[in-house]
Amino acid sequence: MRIGILGAGNMAGALGAQWTRAGHEIMVSGRDPARASALAATTGARAGTFREAAGFGDVAVVAVLAEAVPAVLAEAGDAARGKPVIDVTNDVGPHGFRPVAREIARLSGGHVVKAFNLCHVDVWRMTPPVFGGRPLAVPLCGDDPDALALARGLAEDLGCAPVDGGGLGRAELLEATAAFMIGLWSGGADAQAVLPPLEHSGAHPPA
Ligand SMILES: NC(=O)c1ccc[n+]([C@@H]2O[C@H](COP(=O)([O-])OP(=O)(O)OC[C@H]3O[C@@H](n4cnc5c(N)ncnc54)[C@H](OP(=O)(O)O)[C@@H]3O)[C@@H](O)[C@H]2O)c1
Repeated sequence: MRIGILGAGNMAGALGAQWTRAGHEIMVSGRDPARASALAATTGARAGTFREAAGFGDVAVVAVLAEAVPAVLAEAGDAARGKPVIDVTNDVGPHGFRPVAREIARLSGGHVVKAFNLCHVDVWRMTPPVFGGRPLAVPLCGDDPDALALARGLAEDLGCAPVDGGGLGRAELLEATAAFMIGLWSGGADAQAVLPPLEHSGAHPPA
């Protein structure tokens, strides 16, 4: 599959390298052609502009700072319209968090799936990310069945276990979860320990 990554930073490098290893063709992109080319050279990807990457990909991955999303998607134009678009961004800071996924859906015209935003970039560099013998679970929020199926496959390519997180309307909860967890981790807490196993969750999942 062709994957066009909007971004040439840490997340673009980590995910791009993993998906290249899995056999996909990657184009990274940035406002600085030299930075995008340098990243491409180290990860086996191609480099291009935001518009070229969005047009190149069967799927576009938004991996820029959240505050840059409007400008980056304006540059991409309609190249991602109607395509699966994976949003890995977080807008987290002293202000709390600001939801981004719906904005990306509106500005790109693509079928957005929120994913890969919950863990630090170092986790996405692991091959595979397995903790305590269990593969990392990756929640996915989106509305389009084909885009969700594609995102599930990309999570599995990393050695992860995709988890149905519900529709795009729930992406905001996933974004808030990232903000909350980042706060716990930053304070030195073992954030993973705050959640009980399923059998102690009080939920009654379908048999
Ligand atoms: N790092 C993590 O652990 C992590 C984990 C999960 C999710 N995320 C999210 O993933 C996204 C990317 O994070 P990252 O760690 O890859 O960040 P990064 O290494 O700082 O890279 C950010 C990318 O955004 C571009 N960018 C920044 N401002 C821009 C602007 N005004 N116009 C156009 N492009 C701009 C940068 O281009 P230049 O190189 O030209 O500045 C670069 O390509 C963020 O939304 C972040 O919240 C990060």
